[in-house]
Amino acid sequence: MIERPVIALDFPSKKDVEHFLEGFPVEEKLYLKVGMELFYQEGPEIVRFLKQAGHSVFLDLKLHDIPNTVESAMKGLAKLGVDMTNVHAAGGIQMMQAAKRGLEAGAQQAQTPILIAVTQLTSTSEEEMQHDQLIHASLKESVKHYAKCAETAGLNGVVCSAQEVQLIKESTNESFVCLTPGIRPAGSAVGDQKRVMTPAAAREIGSDYIVVGRPITQAENPYQAYLSIKKEWSGN
Ligand code: C5P
Repeated sequence: MIERPVIALDFPSKKDVEHFLEGFPVEEKLYLKVGMELFYQEGPEIVRFLKQAGHSVFLDLKLHDIPNTVESAMKGLAKLGVDMTNVHAAGGIQMMQAAKRGLEAGAQQAQTPILIAVTQLTSTSEEEMQHDQLIHASLKESVKHYAKCAETAGLNGVVCSAQEVQLIKESTNESFVCLTPGIRPAGSAVGDQKRVMTPAAAREIGSDYIVVGRPITQAENPYQAYLSIKKEWSGN
């Protein structure tokens, strides 16, 4: 089943989020991504607020620390009821395993949140990676390696650019998911994204989740923009 497009709530405050959500009918249950900007201002309360309204939440905090710290942090995040969260694969297999243990412990009887890893940030160029991280491989090799590490650690998938989906799908098991940002419906503003793909193209290449921010949050009518992207993504 193809999930709803995940809307990136890149807003600075709960007030802005409330204003944005006023444009949607209350019965339209959304999949919302809360990132660092919003979480560091509003804290766990923003997640509780969205969950209480019946929405699904992807908490995009990209944890990267020693395994023990990540495990405890994840336990707390699972207790908040997040549906999906993530870590940096660069933290290592042991850290990723610890993250998963933490989520399982925190979720208790409830469904364990989906855990995905960031491989190489899409803002990192191959040159930068080789120089700054002293990785003597191509960017693609590094992305594939990190995806395989995430799979070994028992994670559910990775965040990746749509251009990397095929490579990752070829190298991992069938249930391993790819979540892809950088989605733009035909004719919409690209903004600062470099390599973009339409929702339909993302579906065709095998993305499991798409993350869409500005084409919905900055639209004149966010609800209509959401419906049309959802339609294109689900293929009906
Ligand atoms: O507005 P836009 O659709 O470009 O928003 C995309 C969202 O996905 C933002 O929250 C951005 O931080 C996030 N993201 C991304 N590229 C990545 C990882 C996350 O654009 N590689």
